[in-house]
Amino acid sequence: MASVPSLASTVQQRLADALSAALPEAGSADPLLRRSDRADFQANGILALAKKLKGNPRELAAQVVGALPADDGVLKEVEVSGPGFLNITVGDGAIVETLAARAADDRLGVPSAEHPGTTVIDYAQPNVAKEMHVGHLRSAVIGDAMVRILEFAGEKVVRRHHIGDWGTQFGMLIQYLIEHPHELDHKADTGDAQTSGEEAMSNLNRLYKASRALFDSDEEFKARSRDRVVLLQSGDPETLRLWQRFVDESKIYFYSVFDKLDMEIRDPDVVGESGYNDMLDETCRLLEESGVAVRSEGALCVFFDDVKGPDGQPVPLIVRKSNGGYGYAATDLSAIRDRVQKLGATTLLYVVDARQSLHFKMVFETARRAGWLGDDVKAVQLAFGTVLGKDGKPFKTREGETVRLVDLLDEAVERASSVVREKAESLPEADRLTEEEIAERGTQVGIGAIKYADLSTSAVRDYKFDLDQMVSLNGDTSVYLQYAYARIRSIVRKSGDAKPAAHAELGLAPAERALGLHLDQFGEVIAEVAASYEPHKLAAYLYQLSSLFTTFYAECPVLKADTPEQVENRLFLCDLTARTLSKGMALLGIRTPERL
Ligand code: ARG
Repeated sequence: MASVPSLASTVQQRLADALSAALPEAGSADPLLRRSDRADFQANGILALAKKLKGNPRELAAQVVGALPADDGVLKEVEVSGPGFLNITVGDGAIVETLAARAADDRLGVPSAEHPGTTVIDYAQPNVAKEMHVGHLRSAVIGDAMVRILEFAGEKVVRRHHIGDWGTQFGMLIQYLIEHPHELDHKADTGDAQTSGEEAMSNLNRLYKASRALFDSDEEFKARSRDRVVLLQSGDPETLRLWQRFVDESKIYFYSVFDKLDMEIRDPDVVGESGYNDMLDETCRLLEESGVAVRSEGALCVFFDDVKGPDGQPVPLIVRKSNGGYGYAATDLSAIRDRVQKLGATTLLYVVDARQSLHFKMVFETARRAGWLGDDVKAVQLAFGTVLGKDGKPFKTREGETVRLVDLLDEAVERASSVVREKAESLPEADRLTEEEIAERGTQVGIGAIKYADLSTSAVRDYKFDLDQMVSLNGDTSVYLQYAYARIRSIVRKSGDAKPAAHAELGLAPAERALGLHLDQFGEVIAEVAASYEPHKLAAYLYQLSSLFTTFYAECPVLKADTPEQVENRLFLCDLTARTLSKGMALLGIRTPERL
């Protein structure tokens, strides 16, 4: 587990040292190093510095170059260009050596945080007795990727699935179940998770609709349902037992969906709204005693100067309603206390729909005022946008209903399977896949396509759910990345006796340099994504990696290279590319089959 500094960071450091040696009056100025098309890197920092020091940028740049250490193979060429940029070319040998150090490490040289914090991440939080929709898909997919990335970066991660398992609707549901006791029974225990999941949901759905219809049409049932809410809140054992049945049934369904999504959700991490019931009274008392919350029209409220409705009146966060009932906010405030005080969170991360941003803004601010969120704790909403249909409107079925998540996943797998089949049929006999392999790959490609489409655009943006595009072999899709990976693996398989081996003494072709320098950036991308919560940057990195590999493969023969050393060195680049791709995809929660 040796972390490997990237060439970019080595070059950056040397420039920074030369800068402060040549221009001590500049203090610790940033050389502003970027990858560049002209050379390997370009540093633009001297321009701004020259302005500040009122000097001639080209002259200052020359002074900095003069202060650089003698060439040891890393800085092969540094030249002043244009108004005062530095164009920097690193040595071929340095690239190969750095990559060899990465290849020798299980973590590809990516450092693990020395002083990790504890992030409590709130994601994959569907609602009991309700169908999951595409919004829940986004939270699950983005949250799962963030968990993997943060853990890989060394952070301690605690997962919380804040499912909607409490509220007045349970009065109606439980009352209906009491009056129709067999509505949740399963017809047959098939032992198959998918089937029981579907059956659980269809029972719950039917029960939800029927009880809602009765509630709306039958005043007496409505009254009985309200009494039932009171029994539920007072902890009546029989009522709680029936409530638990709804939760358990829903979990069967949730787990079947998460399973389909190839995602591990662990039971102890499912701490729904009801998990904080015991804290609600105290949360309200503390808020009221400290004056953070005040009574307004019978409700307990927190006010904000900058939150006003369209009529200009302040819109408060309601912690307790005038009828004494607690809502979503009281639960979230209690959850913050629990996560900071009991779980020791230094960061609270919420992967939740952007439409709940005002709620979180008010909840975080309230918790800060109450002292539950100190300066040492960060609270962030990783807000995501809406999933749109091909027509650019919120995603609905032709009949205007919300699209069932399971149907979407099934369709993606079906489409992906035909893509895999078609492609497999064009392969020589020996490389053909069996039907079983096609089914397995179809699942990995289809689920990967859905995840990748979600993860490859910036989370806050809305995106169009377009299956044709998602399973396309060309363009920025997971399938393209998966094929790139499988192709590399097949090259390595066909290499016979030649083994991947780094040869730092060989010169590199331009496409090899470009690929190599990109491979070297993996750790920096991980660090950036872990700090900014932007998994789309990892997706973009991987897509570019595949494109650079494609160019490399077109320009540089691997198994037919000129010398045995060159074959080995190119195999080495292939192998490191494959490992980086597969690690990166795994961090996004996407599989990379060995053969496609
Ligand atoms: N169950 C909610 C929904 O479906 C999401 C919960 C988000 N998490 C939270 N701590 N409020 O919209």
